Order: sequence, then C-alpha cells, then structure tokens
Amino acid sequence: METRAKKTIIANWKNHPDSWAEAEQILDATNEYFSTTRQDLVDQVLPGIVICPPFVFLEEVGKVLKTSHFEHEASLGSQDIAVDDDTALTGEISGPMLSKLGVKYVIVGHSERRWPHCASLAEDGKLGESDEVVNKKIKAVLHNGMVPIVCVGERVRDDNFKEFLKNQIEKTFFGLSQDELGKCIIAYEPVWAISTSPDAHPDTPESAIESIGVIQDALISKFGIRNSNLFLYGGSVTSKNVADFIGQKEIDGVLVGGASINKEEFVKILKLI
Ligand code: PGA
Repeated sequence: METRAKKTIIANWKNHPDSWAEAEQILDATNEYFSTTRQDLVDQVLPGIVICPPFVFLEEVGKVLKTSHFEHEASLGSQDIAVDDDTALTGEISGPMLSKLGVKYVIVGHSERRWPHCASLAEDGKLGESDEVVNKKIKAVLHNGMVPIVCVGERVRDDNFKEFLKNQIEKTFFGLSQDELGKCIIAYEPVWAISTSPDAHPDTPESAIESIGVIQDALISKFGIRNSNLFLYGGSVTSKNVADFIGQKEIDGVLVGGASINKEEFVKILKLI
C-alpha cells in the first residue's frame, strides 16, 4: 500500500459557535470519527489536528482533548495572543495564561486581524494589526514555549503580489533567529480567498504552490534558512477542494475556518485527508 504523508489540519473556529453545547457537538462528531477509524491509519496517515476555539471555550475544549480518542490526535490552539506578557492590556490574553491552559499552538497574523473586512471596521481601521505587531506576537508565542502558526498572504493577486509577500515575510519574521524561525508553521492565506472576504474564492493548488515558493525564496534570501517549516494553505477550504490541496507534496496541511464549525463538513474533510 502506498503511504501518504501525514498532514496537519488547523480548525480555526473564529468567533463561533455561540454556545458550548454546539461546540461539544463538533468535538463529539470528530471524536466519533476517530473512534471508528483504524488506529494504524490514524498514526501513519491521518492528520494531526489543532483545534483553535474562541478564548471562552479554550479551557473546556482543552479538557475534552485530553480524553478519549482526542488524546493522541488533537492539540489545543489559540487564535491570538497579547503582544506582551506583562503590560496591562485590557481585553487581551497573555502567553503565560495560554500555556498554562495547555495551549500548544497560536495563530498569529490572521488576515481578519491584519486587514478589516467588515465595512464598519474598514471605516475606522481599528483592527489593522501591522507586521510589527504580528512580529511581537510571534516572539511572545515562542518565548512562552508554544508554536506560532503565522498567517501570511497578499491582499490582491496583482502584478506586485510577489513583492508584497517578500516584504511581508521580511517584516513579519524580523529579528528571529534561524532556530526560532524554524519552529514556525507558515500558513499561506491569500486575503481574497478567506471566506469572510468579499467575493471570496479558493486559490488553486498550482498558484498556492507558486506563492509558497515565493515565501520559501524570501526566507532563504532574507534569513538564510533553507527551511524546514511546515507550509499550510488556508482560504475557503471545504470538502470539495481539500483533497486537491492536500494531495500536493509542497502543502503540508490546511487551515480551515468556516468549514471547521460545521460538524458534518469537518468530518467529511477529515475523511478526505
Ligand atoms: P475560511 O477561513 O476557511 O473560512 O476561508 C480560513 C481561516 O480561518 O484562515
């Protein structure tokens, strides 16, 4: 039997679901799938899953992940982190708080935090996290012993998109040692492909691979690392297209937003990986 490479799947629940009861249903469906799957497949082929719930469910999800089939298959992730461990920052959650809850991965620089999508936010520009802020957050994640899942991607696919990506990579990873950079998981998420963007549509595997190549070249030329990072694709991933992305050797996994909070759809995605 041909062995497929084990892939990584990040479930980014964003600000959903509205209740713990619904959150439990998603976890139950996923756990049920693992309980009916052959353990050798789980060990060798099936993805490593990181579940990133909203902060209010982190502790409870963490408890569930320590039980039953989840124990070996799934890790806890956070969707954000405070830039600083010690400064008083109203509304923020610090690195030490996250690591004490058992968080192992932290999404940093998600495009919904970098670039406002809703018209009301675009008007006052309040959520526009800069590359410099993202850079500080990566350092906060590493400093607290967790793994950053760093989102990068162009806003528009125009003639300048390669320059945009190179510049974003340089600023986002500025000042990191090769060792620190090597610990980062890099999620290529073109902003126009994220389901919350106006007229969103998924990228094609070919163009995602081209962009990942640009990112890898930038990491080599700016930081001198021929990198051993994992590269994920994110942006409108569903059960209809996941196999196309995952089937590429250049793509180590996917970051799934909207489809990860629909329990039937999420299990379908898992079955296809
Ligand atoms: P989406 O979100 O799958 O809903 O496009 C991706 C993400 O959360 O980055």
